[in-house]
Amino acid sequence: MAANTIDHNRTRQNFEGIDSVWLFGYGSLIYKVDFPFLEQKPATIRGWARRFWQGSHDHRGTPEAPGRVVTLIEQPGAVCKGMAFRVAPSVFEHLDVREKNGYLRFSTTMTFDDGGQAEGLVYIATEDNEAFLGEAPPADIARQIAQALGPSGPNTDYLLRLAESLRELGDQCDHTFAIESCLKEQLSSER
Ligand code: BEZ
Repeated sequence: MAANTIDHNRTRQNFEGIDSVWLFGYGSLIYKVDFPFLEQKPATIRGWARRFWQGSHDHRGTPEAPGRVVTLIEQPGAVCKGMAFRVAPSVFEHLDVREKNGYLRFSTTMTFDDGGQAEGLVYIATEDNEAFLGEAPPADIARQIAQALGPSGPNTDYLLRLAESLRELGDQCDHTFAIESCLKEQLSSER
């Protein structure tokens, strides 16, 4: 699948007659809320694990030196914690462009921390997209992140801000925290 997903996303859901849609955020959507929303609630989705397995050529890296950002990988029994936003359908026009590098909108069921469930959407970059990088040891991922810089800033900011936001949400994301601690170790041994 081509990395640019803007046109593909426009064909995926029909929002005709719909006033609002729940959107589940598990990555930069948690801390970079540059879109209007009607409501916001911490939530979880089941069967998906957050992984730094997607390349970023347009935000946190370049085509020559891609950074790494998160996507979701199907994993039975996994629980991914994030933030749910109820948004107007027009918000997807902005987010489809912002998250155009391999992410498609999928339907999901989310469970709110305050009780109740809703059907909604989540952006996932699947393995068949051109920007997918896949699994690597945490220390290698941290090294790649330490070296990557793109139009949205250093890849390190993305990792550190996400880790901080997950702590604030009360999420114990071992994968993210392992990469964060490798990065901090590597940065301190460089000094
Ligand atoms: C998110 O934070 O949910 C998100 C992550 C990657 C791309 C789009 C959205």
